[in-house]
Amino acid sequence: MEIDWKDAVKTDLRRKILRGLSLSGFLLVGCLVIQFLEISGMNAWAGSPPSSKSAKAEGNTERGREVFNGKGVCYYCHGIDGNKDQRPQLAPDTAALIAQLNPPPVDLRNQKILRLNTDKQRAHAIREGHPGTGMFPDTTITPQELTDVLAYLALLRREHSSRKP
Ligand code: HEC
Repeated sequence: MEIDWKDAVKTDLRRKILRGLSLSGFLLVGCLVIQFLEISGMNAWAGSPPSSKSAKAEGNTERGREVFNGKGVCYYCHGIDGNKDQRPQLAPDTAALIAQLNPPPVDLRNQKILRLNTDKQRAHAIREGHPGTGMFPDTTITPQELTDVLAYLALLRREHSSRKP
């Protein structure tokens, strides 16, 4: 009788633990789903027509700048802070390679000569490489870094156009 009771408690405990585990599993999956939704929301934003307001809310221009002048190595070709005439000191063979690019890297500050019109196209160019040019794909950039870089590129274009008369 007593043994039965202990067994019952044990199975009950086991059931409770299992339920607890599946509950935490459920929560974990929920968090992952939410995170995924956030990321795909960001992508959806990248695909929408550029709006300076959403760029400010979603992308951090300062972090985008760090990626641009750092990990993303965008500055190798597009210049420090997107300033075409301010390239970093590069190994001679790298510099020579970049000098040979045809078409040459574009001035990302000069809205008039830029050919991509949406952040979706820009995101694609950064992630997959810019077709027919020397711009290679960046496969290590995270969705957040991509969003930040796009916000930074938008800032470069805005800064440039506001300086023009
Ligand atoms: C190896 C040199 C190189 C690197 C590195 C590079 N680019 Fe480019 N980029 C180019 C060239 C070349 C073009 C094409 C210019 C043209 O179409 O006339 C280009 C084009 C672009 C364009 C399209 C401009 C337009 O016409 O609207 C964007 C945006 C851009 N680059 C952003 C970036 C960003 C952001 C990074 C870093 C993640 C980067 N690039 C890294 C060489 C480079």
